[in-house]
Amino acid sequence: MFAATAIDSSDKAVFYRDLATQLKALLEGERDSIANAANTSALIYQMVPDLNWAGFYFLASDEELVLGPFQGKPACVRIAVGKGVCGTAVDLGMSMLVKDVHDFPGHIACDADSRSELVVLLRDNDGVFGVLDLDSPTPSRFDKEDQAGIEKLASIFVAASSFED
Ligand code: SME
Repeated sequence: MFAATAIDSSDKAVFYRDLATQLKALLEGERDSIANAANTSALIYQMVPDLNWAGFYFLASDEELVLGPFQGKPACVRIAVGKGVCGTAVDLGMSMLVKDVHDFPGHIACDADSRSELVVLLRDNDGVFGVLDLDSPTPSRFDKEDQAGIEKLASIFVAASSFED
């Protein structure tokens, strides 16, 4: 049984380093991408403070993301590339750090409690194939250290998992 170990979140660099170590241990020896996405979202939701949603969207085509494993309230299933925070991240090819979703034109509200959002890209050798999305009920919840930490977790998930058709 894997049991997540509590980490002091006051130093974000230390927090994300320790969380990365726990994620590697959690995914060790498993290549199934759906199982690994489910466990990655569960670990993030359990360990990262002040979240109301954490999960994955995967590209089903060049034009559309489809909901993957997540923790939180039921969410919108399909997001067009270029729409919302997730689709904009894919369109621009960069992580999105949104301090207040009310100020982001086109933000897609899956949970009315969400006030800030962090979206990082999932990339392999063929390019971007999805996003990892975190929502918080607190405005300005995420900063550049959170972005770097979650980007690292996303890369661990991608390296651990098989995405062959
Ligand atoms: N807010 C996202 C939609 C996904 S939910 O937050 C789970 C967006 O604007 O793309």
